[in-house]
Amino acid sequence: MARKQLYKVTTRLVHGPEHSAKWDFSHHVTPPLSSSTTYRLDSAKRGARGFQEFGQLVKDTGDMPVYIYDRLDEPTRSILEGELAEIEGGEACVTFASGMAAISAALGSSLSAGDEVVAHPVLYGCTHSLFQNWYPRLGFKVHRVDMNDLAALRKVVNDRTRALYFESPVNPSLELVDIGALRKFADEVNARRKPERKLLIFIDNTFATPFGQRPLALGADVVLHSLTKNLGGFGTELGGAVICPKSMLATLLLYRKDFGGILGSKSAWAIMVYGLPTLALRLKRQQFTAKKVASFLEKHDSVARVAYPGLASFPQRALAEKQLRDFDGDFAPGNMIYFELDPARVDAAEFVDEIARSAYSVTLAVSLGHTKTLIELPASMTHSSYGKSGGAVRLSIGLESPSDIISDLKHALAAVSKSRAPARNARVKSAVK
Ligand SMILES: Cc1ncc(COP(=O)(O)O)c(C=O)c1O
Repeated sequence: MARKQLYKVTTRLVHGPEHSAKWDFSHHVTPPLSSSTTYRLDSAKRGARGFQEFGQLVKDTGDMPVYIYDRLDEPTRSILEGELAEIEGGEACVTFASGMAAISAALGSSLSAGDEVVAHPVLYGCTHSLFQNWYPRLGFKVHRVDMNDLAALRKVVNDRTRALYFESPVNPSLELVDIGALRKFADEVNARRKPERKLLIFIDNTFATPFGQRPLALGADVVLHSLTKNLGGFGTELGGAVICPKSMLATLLLYRKDFGGILGSKSAWAIMVYGLPTLALRLKRQQFTAKKVASFLEKHDSVARVAYPGLASFPQRALAEKQLRDFDGDFAPGNMIYFELDPARVDAAEFVDEIARSAYSVTLAVSLGHTKTLIELPASMTHSSYGKSGGAVRLSIGLESPSDIISDLKHALAAVSKSRAPARNARVKSAVK
């Protein structure tokens, strides 16, 4: 194992673990897909030992665990968890059936009725719905406060607040949250608290992936992922992960055992064998293309505003350059673009309908972090739980040729642009006169 640590993360992701105490696969070049719901126990003593060890929640002792039943622990999933903890720079990782299962487990296992959460106003639609529709029923109060507004945070954080929750970059707006500033704030609060009541910083790092941002090093306590997106990478598997301190592992494993939202070993295997080894390669190509597409959109007359951290015009560019760094330390603005169309020239629904009708390299579909470029309208699709209207567009750049993506977007914009409306640039010019 020591030898592996001498290599760059990109190389380590390609090769994975040299060996694992979770399963002996010394002679496999590709780690095995173990798929057994239950395990032969040989003796009552071994069965009792397995349950006892799980009860004590000893993980990563360096010994082969006594596997009992897939929902408790399973080798393929467990090897993937080791890999994910390592690339995020965390102590432990627990995977789940989906990103939402991971988010609800990380928070659900940390909160008791009466506890409070402070969450950023804009979040992925189902996380918003979890906070809006389910947490009041469970007795968790959720305040929505801009995480970059420390004065507003100070006003709502009280002795019952256990979690600060946000995404950075935010889905879909790509706004960033200053993780280091939140760390300082949480440290101030925690100086007056007992260790078991500490205020914890939870970040959903799905958009950046560990390739583009390691939030634990920037000051977060818990990192969440939808493995369904760029970590899986091919759009074939659903999954989620929580990367957390060892102190949270026991409760999280018990929670997963009893609530049951495990990641199936077949999905774990695909994410480990296809997703992780190609992560850096895919992301580098996607962000090369994203920069070109964002620059094209920014210059287009029918586009009112483009948010992409790689553009000079990105409002939080300095923070982006600080937080979004790849494994080699290079700026990693990612593969997601958010843009608003000029409603006087283009109706957003007509635009994506035209994409669905005529584009080959851009697909109208939700989800993101796919080999294929995906486009959607957050207000009426992924973020419809907010009940708001709006014509903004979310674009997840894939692996196609940049010129094909640009050409499909250009064609669709031209096909639906209202020709009589003056171009945005012309309007700006006349306003200046
Ligand atoms: C930022 C973010 N977090 C979490 C999720 C939920 O992931 P899953 O669909 O795997 O449950 C999504 C899904 O789009 C997402 O975009």
